[in-house]
Amino acid sequence: MKHIVTDLGHLVHQVDLGKYQEKVNQINLWIKEKTGKGNDFLGWVDQPIAYDKDELKAIKEAADYVRNNYDVLVVCGIGGSYLGARAAIEALGGLTRKSPEIIFMGQTLDPEYVGDVLDYLKGRKFAINVISKSGTTTETAVSFRLLKELLEKNIGVEMARKSIFATTDKEKGALLTLAKKEGYTTFILPSDIGGRYSVQTAVGLFPIAVAGFDPEEILEGSAAAREDTNDPDLSKNEAYKYAVARYALYEEYGINGEMLISYSPSLVQVGEWWKQLFGESEGKSDKALVPMSATFTTDLHSLGQFIQQGTKSFFETIIRKGSYRKDVEMPHDEENLDGLNFLEGKPLSYINEKAYEGTLLAHTKDAGRDNIVLSIDKLDAFGMGYLFYFFERACAMSAYLLGINPFDQPGVEIYKKNMFHLLGKPGY
Ligand code: PA5
Repeated sequence: MKHIVTDLGHLVHQVDLGKYQEKVNQINLWIKEKTGKGNDFLGWVDQPIAYDKDELKAIKEAADYVRNNYDVLVVCGIGGSYLGARAAIEALGGLTRKSPEIIFMGQTLDPEYVGDVLDYLKGRKFAINVISKSGTTTETAVSFRLLKELLEKNIGVEMARKSIFATTDKEKGALLTLAKKEGYTTFILPSDIGGRYSVQTAVGLFPIAVAGFDPEEILEGSAAAREDTNDPDLSKNEAYKYAVARYALYEEYGINGEMLISYSPSLVQVGEWWKQLFGESEGKSDKALVPMSATFTTDLHSLGQFIQQGTKSFFETIIRKGSYRKDVEMPHDEENLDGLNFLEGKPLSYINEKAYEGTLLAHTKDAGRDNIVLSIDKLDAFGMGYLFYFFERACAMSAYLLGINPFDQPGVEIYKKNMFHLLGKPGY
């Protein structure tokens, strides 16, 4: 059963999928047989079925320990080392998720944010999950040094060691050296999986498990998506259908951007994860769609005007939920002073759906803007796993269509070098 269906029926421009089939067949082999550009980073393709079972057991046990003994878990990482976990936890948990609280740090150098987190943690019982594949990322390393110092002051060096969980490369890096020396519980990020494709490893699974969601369900969802995306036939493969449509809009019609839209504030971080996945994978050689995201109906009151009548430089991709984890019914009001009795008895899911339908019509028929609709039946842990893998597979296909290696990020190094030079780091 397909858990995400790609609807291209709302495109304004015509896209002929058939003419890309041969190329897609070829690229699919590069992905499956791990022979494409950057093939030493294609480990994520089989990770949902090839994951280390002992590691998963250790992740679950450690997560139970943190859940039973701490009030807060601080996840310290940046980019692919935190966005997936954050996306899943917010999408699945909403505002009412029970403790432990999950706080993200290591993704900024802003002294106010960092200072606020440190102040907030004083006197609280917290554990740390420091995540860095390279082990040398400045934002993460700076935050971790501060967190470690605070924790050691709070509970002493010995207890601090038991409260720190490190996720890093198996063989190398400063974090691995430190973790070994201090004796931290350590989880492994396989060397053939890059940060932005790592949510199905301990990078995503440990924080997700601490937040109370089953990491096995995430993996099962990803495994189902893997199964559904292995066949390159564009009449069946919904991820490739999406990848080819976005490529065609860019290449054939010169549309330069894509806005990922959902109708749920709990999916804001899914947008952040998706922007990193596509932005860092494809944005090279002066090519690729600009990835943007928005939440409707909220942003219809900010970006809505621009989308309707501003420059036609982007298309929209809508994540359409087929069900909600809770619903709310509009009550009757005797006086009806707000004039809303016409909605009496209607669930908000119905009203949200009508907002979606009305907006789709306005943006396609009236505004002439291309819309792709990705309908997902259920966004539980399985559904999140499915969605993660769906986009990962689509992104690899899309980058290869552009002739880009999806798994490196040479441009990111430039700001780091400049910053190190300005900070006086030895060797820069
Ligand atoms: O996707 C990527 O590879 C990057 O976004 C990295 O995840 C990010 O730069 C953090 O790197 P590291 O895990 O080495 O600290």
